[in-house]
Amino acid sequence: MTQTNAAGMVQEQIIPILDFGSQYVQLIARRVREAGVHALLVAPDISVADLRAMNPIGLILSGGPASVYEHDAPRCDPKIFDLNIPVLGICYGMQIAAQLLGGRVKPGAAAEYGATRLHVLHDGAVASHSGELFTGVPEDTGVWMSHGDQVKELGSDFIALASTPSCPLAAIRHKSRPFFGVQFHPEVTHTPHGGKILENFLYRVCHAAGTWRMGNFLEITLDKVRRQVGSGRVICGLSGGVDSAVAAALLHQAIGEQLTCIFVDNGLLRKNERAGVESTFRDHFHIDLRVVDAADEFLPALAGVTEPQSKRKIIGKAFIDVFKRASGGITDARFLAQGTLYPDVIESGQGYARTAANIKLHHNVGGLPAELGFELVEPLRDLFKDEVRRLGEVLGLPENMVWRHPFPGPGLAVRCIGEITQDKLAILRDADEILLEEIVAAGLYRSTAQTFAVLLPVNSVAVMGDGRGYKPVIALRSVDSADFMTADWSRIPYDVLARISSRIVNEVRAVSRVVYDITSKPPGTIEWE
Ligand code: XMP
Repeated sequence: MTQTNAAGMVQEQIIPILDFGSQYVQLIARRVREAGVHALLVAPDISVADLRAMNPIGLILSGGPASVYEHDAPRCDPKIFDLNIPVLGICYGMQIAAQLLGGRVKPGAAAEYGATRLHVLHDGAVASHSGELFTGVPEDTGVWMSHGDQVKELGSDFIALASTPSCPLAAIRHKSRPFFGVQFHPEVTHTPHGGKILENFLYRVCHAAGTWRMGNFLEITLDKVRRQVGSGRVICGLSGGVDSAVAAALLHQAIGEQLTCIFVDNGLLRKNERAGVESTFRDHFHIDLRVVDAADEFLPALAGVTEPQSKRKIIGKAFIDVFKRASGGITDARFLAQGTLYPDVIESGQGYARTAANIKLHHNVGGLPAELGFELVEPLRDLFKDEVRRLGEVLGLPENMVWRHPFPGPGLAVRCIGEITQDKLAILRDADEILLEEIVAAGLYRSTAQTFAVLLPVNSVAVMGDGRGYKPVIALRSVDSADFMTADWSRIPYDVLARISSRIVNEVRAVSRVVYDITSKPPGTIEWE
């Protein structure tokens, strides 16, 4: 069930997650959302009044690296337990809650990291208590542990629900309050029944309605956007990437002709990229799309520049100049829409404040300075990337746009190693197009996270008929990655690599040789520059 807030706006049911600094905290939020309930990260010391204002149906206390008996360990307000809403404490979250509710926490005999067996006490006196959290979970199951401390002693107010060989109190509940704690991590895939445990908390303990669906999110967000912009005009910078495309499609549905999109062709795009954006947004959605032909501004500014960060700076500055001019021509515009996502909001330190100020600007559209004077519209700032893709599908964006690999703001400039020239860009575009065609044909586009060609500033010898050529080398880069912070090179089958290589050297006559990059990140970055 959705709820209505004081202002009469429809709201999703919310589970706030108090973030005590766990490396898994975003994963907890994603798991809760995947189970159909809207989760938001909040500061661990959030006030009871602020929590109450969110009207939550339950709370989760995350894990974290601290020890509860450290002097400066993060704490939550003990009064949150008087709100009388269900609370699930995970790892540190269980320890802090147990301590605040009268239990004792001590260092374990040995820190415990990794997989272990959990024995669920389904029998006897605790059956009715463990039932809610462990319904459908086998008596003996695997769990993932990552802790030094553990709850050692419980007062008579608690009941043990499960144990592991080295942690007798691996899951607990309070006798009279709706508090549950687990020492292990239900949110990670290494806890095979973790999803079931979280679902039990949401549905059996919090009685969630499970309405967090992209269709509902869309309805609520359309309403929010309309309230924010009224009859004002909104500009949206399209980059060709997923986030700005989904933001634009959503805004178009919300405000129709009040939206104007700007797409800057900087001369550093992939083959057919501009045509794809034009056909989707102008021809299919009938959006007012202004394409700015700015290659003549970017390429001369890049002439002779080889250093990667200098390339980025030049491109960033040129983008701001061009965008400023283009948006300045739309004189009635008051708002600027951006495809900022929830991880951007969290990483910029704004995750808890939920204000529009100072948000890290989305670097795919170059980073626009506040002096442009627009009010920001950020319809995706509550979503993770996979949710944005699902929303894109609900909005009817074509599959190839929704599932597009990320493309860096500086475009081919950082894939054309060394100096950039029109000739080199043309070679790179042709090779890149062949690579992507073959990856799509082999059914590998969705399973790889990012696949592209790089033009090296190195010539090698090629034998062509009776003659010898001395021509550039193309490197292929394809990585598997969940978050682009770490990545591994994709194990593309040899026969697919052979086809790609043979097509590139035969069809792109200016290329002598094709090599495949087998470097993981770290230490190698995904891009070469
Ligand atoms: P690296 O090369 O740092 O890339 O491993 C991680 C992800 O970021 C993208 N990337 C950029 N995106 N502007 C962007 O908008 C940039 O300057 C930039 N540099 C790297 C890269 O494509 C990968 O997805």
